[in-house]
Amino acid sequence: MLRRRLPHRKSSMSMLNKFAGDFVMPNPGHRRWSFFNFRSAYYMHSAYETALHSHRTGDGYADVNWDDLRFSLTPTDYMYSMKYSKDGGFSQGELIRYGNIELSPSAGVLNYAQGLYEGLKAYRKANGNGFLLFRPELNAQRMQIGADRMCMPSLAVDQFVHAVKQTVVANKRWVPPPGKGSLYIRPLLFGSGPILGLAPAPEYTFLIYTSPVGNYFKEGLAPINLIVAELTHRAAPGGAGCVKTIANYAPVLKAQTQAKEKGFTDVLFLDSVKNKYLEEASSCNIFILKDNVISTPITNGTILEGVTRRSVIEIARELGYQVEERLVSVDDLAVADEVFCTGTAVVVAPVNTITYNDQRYTYTCGEETVTNTIYKSLTAIQMGLVEDRKGWTVDID
Ligand SMILES: Cc1ncc(COP(=O)(O)O)c(C=O)c1O
Repeated sequence: MLRRRLPHRKSSMSMLNKFAGDFVMPNPGHRRWSFFNFRSAYYMHSAYETALHSHRTGDGYADVNWDDLRFSLTPTDYMYSMKYSKDGGFSQGELIRYGNIELSPSAGVLNYAQGLYEGLKAYRKANGNGFLLFRPELNAQRMQIGADRMCMPSLAVDQFVHAVKQTVVANKRWVPPPGKGSLYIRPLLFGSGPILGLAPAPEYTFLIYTSPVGNYFKEGLAPINLIVAELTHRAAPGGAGCVKTIANYAPVLKAQTQAKEKGFTDVLFLDSVKNKYLEEASSCNIFILKDNVISTPITNGTILEGVTRRSVIEIARELGYQVEERLVSVDDLAVADEVFCTGTAVVVAPVNTITYNDQRYTYTCGEETVTNTIYKSLTAIQMGLVEDRKGWTVDID
């Protein structure tokens, strides 16, 4: 865990050593014992100087209009990079300047979509001292499961979490002030080595970049409007719908774009066998409430098991609601009282309407809803506003 504070003024060499001390810890689960290298030292020193500069010159924040944050890319200072080769395993990770990367035209990811991504957030603590991650080990585990499915090597959980922490610290001035948003953290794992015939790539890259973000939907925190996709499916049994492979996302763009053109916020996908059971939206899970019973589609290999979904199930049960993971049919939409979507990016988004088969169903939204109670309970933990009795948050001091 990174617990050191930046010193105010020290000699350049001792600053470098202190900074290097933070970053060149032996990685648990690392295959080889790697040594400090000078390229890393250079970047670390620069990262240190940047952090120190903003520490000295003002409030420690990047020049961003925090009130205007959307879910869009604002490049930050550093990204984290690690390579994997068959002979050497994963290299020592390093922080490098955020920027374009070089890839062979025959890289596995470009030709055969051998790639995964993850998404998690860091919140600045309300007292201004450090940051909070939310259950990052679950993202690490999901990446491991995804890597196995996509025939890629994966990092140890500790390695992943350590890399995430380093990336947040290096980009700390981009973490929005409390209440204004979060630093979205995007880990990637992809086949970067060249391969012509269909086969696993010979080399992989693990990369993390970040961006300060606000609300995901243009509606902000206002309720969203979904349309059920009747002709397009996101996943099929035996496919890869349950992992966060990049290959799951481009195929939903057409349905999503058409839905947006018609004024909807997002698309809700049905199972591909019966075309009857709800699965999920293009980037979030779905819950319905009927008579104090909360239901969410059971994950059976075609639905991504969201970290937020899992957390909401636990929170709702603790709040006294009955929560069922079951097949949720389109017929359930006609009788539901409330509907909401969950995800790291969308958090807990209330659904105003769902359109299916030319029918439009409208749900209760607002302050006095179960959706809002769950939203508040979850975000209070994520932002450190209440005591985290579950041990879900991870401190970066
Ligand atoms: C398809 C899909 N479903 C669900 C989710 C929600 O997952 P999580 O709560 O882990 O962000 C995401 C977001 O990453 C997603 O892309």
